[in-house]
Amino acid sequence: MEAWFITLVSFCVCFLIRAIFSLHSSPTKASGKAIITTPPGPSHISIITRLLWLRKSFTELEPTLRTFHAKYGPIITLRIGASPAIFIADGALAHRALVHNGSLFSDRPEAPATAAILSSNRRNISSASYGATWRTLRRNLASEMLHHSRVRSFSGIRKCVLNSLLTRLKSASESIHSVRVIDHLRHAMFCLLVFMCFGERLDEGKVRDIARVERQLLLRLGSFNILNFWPSVTRVLYRKKWLEMLRLRKEQEDVLLPLIRARKQKQKQAKESGLNDDHDDVVSYVDTLLDLQLPEEKRELNEGELVTLCNEFLNAGTDTTSTALQWIMANLVKYPHVQERVVEEIKQVVGEKKEREVKEEELHKLGYLKAVVLEGLRRHPPGHFVLPHAVTEDVVLKDYLVPKNGTVNFMVAEMGLDPKVWEDPLAFKPERFLNDEGFDITGTKEIKMMPFGAGRRICPGYNLALLHLEYFVANLVLNFEWKVPQGGDVDLSEKKEFTVVMKNALQTFRIGQNGPYRVRNGPFRTPKSRTKTTPRTTHSEIRTARSGTHPERPVLPSERPVLPPERPVLLSRTARSPSGTARSPSFL
Ligand code: HEM
Ligand SMILES: *[C@@H]1O[C@H](CO)[C@@H](O)[C@H](O)[C@H]1NC(C)=O
Ligand SMILES: *[C@@H]1O[C@H](CO)[C@@H](O)[C@H](O)[C@H]1NC(C)=O
Ligand SMILES: *[C@@H]1O[C@H](CO)[C@@H](O)[C@H](O)[C@H]1NC(C)=O
Repeated sequence: MEAWFITLVSFCVCFLIRAIFSLHSSPTKASGKAIITTPPGPSHISIITRLLWLRKSFTELEPTLRTFHAKYGPIITLRIGASPAIFIADGALAHRALVHNGSLFSDRPEAPATAAILSSNRRNISSASYGATWRTLRRNLASEMLHHSRVRSFSGIRKCVLNSLLTRLKSASESIHSVRVIDHLRHAMFCLLVFMCFGERLDEGKVRDIARVERQLLLRLGSFNILNFWPSVTRVLYRKKWLEMLRLRKEQEDVLLPLIRARKQKQKQAKESGLNDDHDDVVSYVDTLLDLQLPEEKRELNEGELVTLCNEFLNAGTDTTSTALQWIMANLVKYPHVQERVVEEIKQVVGEKKEREVKEEELHKLGYLKAVVLEGLRRHPPGHFVLPHAVTEDVVLKDYLVPKNGTVNFMVAEMGLDPKVWEDPLAFKPERFLNDEGFDITGTKEIKMMPFGAGRRICPGYNLALLHLEYFVANLVLNFEWKVPQGGDVDLSEKKEFTVVMKNALQTFRIGQNGPYRVRNGPFRTPKSRTKTTPRTTHSEIRTARSGTHPERPVLPSERPVLPPERPVLLSRTARSPSGTARSPSFL
């Protein structure tokens, strides 16, 4: 099989070279006036490139797509294999498609062969075709789980998860090993969603178990695409991959099914004993799913479908949110004046309390914080594309035909960086959102950016995601001063995983590890350490003792209790200091 594969790859390379040549030598002619054609694009891409395409994701093809857009305009067609793929890179056009003609642009393309196994035949919200089943599943999620009052019922767990994240970060910053911040952020988000999904706090090991299985599958998903190329053949040729996929799905069922069954059992017992409203119990996503009837088949969900839907719930809100959170924190490290302004705003609005905590109910007063989160989503949307859309019938958009048999996608990252819409688009300037009286992230009136998509398929979790981002950003900067050690920098290069993540993840460093730093001076206190009788060495003291430099503002021990508590420093920079500019090269 190895030799076979090498031959195939060399074939692909040959065809690709040919395709590139033909692309340069024969620019597409303008279409005739009378006939409506699909949007322009490179005249022909060899069928073999479809194979390459299947092996890659949109994001890896983004630079190529960008050059096509520069050449052919904001809406283009790529012919890869049988069905045309249309890409829209312009907010106004996206608005016309997704909002004005939302009823036509809200379908999803046919599911690939692997979906039969991985999603119980498209029984998840994101891949379901636009119809009664999708509507039922989506309405259940939106109105049963993501409704304001339901979301509020989970505020206790958010506080819990936040506290444990702060503790972890604190001990990470004291550890001699540098620790990847993203791992802690992802774990925190995962804990939140696991609780919302199953309604109970699972022990650490169990949560990690689920996370491991979910992540494995997520990261391998792209590589299973090859199985869809020509299913009956590739399934045999790539037998190992096929078996691996089956195994991963099985593992997923093994960890999720016991939790689902336990919930079902609990519900049954509650019904039998007539204790329907057990009021110290939360309603979990599984509970809502167990009550659901599929409208088309008129039956309840089976176990495979429950696993699929829980899996979607856990995945959709974990990687996306933690990726966004890391990007925002990275920018706050890189631009300390932005971080200071967030802290100032919190201190003004929330007041200087003993406890370093921004409560959920206080978030709505923090306009600058909101702007920081929006700017983070504009500059670094976790997904550079939405999920592929399809039209329910042939549609004419901007004088072009969008055929039913094609796919439509939207270039989210491009829209956020469009110089026609955004002034100085590469800069991180939250202020740009302060002028807008309440920026509309859903794009109902106009689309300036769409990190959550827009229209009927818009991410139903956007409110929960924004709440999580605002709550965690506020409390992370209030509890630590995030900064780089001297000589370090934050590298904002991108890397494609399931979402577009930081190539060099943010890491924590112990203060005093690599020489003198200019750190804030002041007692290091957290609610926990304050209760201890023996005062612990403060971070700045470690620094002072080791580096021997004078603190900026000398503090006598006797003065300490009088000073307002300052934030301890969390040194953080990206794994490798970049040698060149900090701009992401793909946007140059
Ligand atoms: C920062 C965090 C998040 C981002 C950036 C994000 C982004 C997106 C995007 C771009 C889409 C595709 C929209 C389209 O195809 O037009 C989507 C769909 C979806 N998201 Fe999110 N999402 C986030 C968090 C969440 C959360 C917390 C949940 C739920 C708990 C969630 C659940 C879903 C679901 C179920 C869909 C499929 C909707 C459908 O096809 O009808 N997402 N999201
Ligand atoms: C897709 O649809 C268009 C317009 O309806 C049609 O011209 C084209 O032949 C179709 N292509 C395939 C591969 O079915
Ligand atoms: C599509 O949008 C145009 C305006 O952009 C509108 O005139 C037309 O009625 C819409 N069609 C449908 C089916 O919504
Ligand atoms: C939904 O199912 C599709 C396959 O039909 C799969 O590719 C996708 O990853 C699933 N979505 C989520 C969020 O789990």
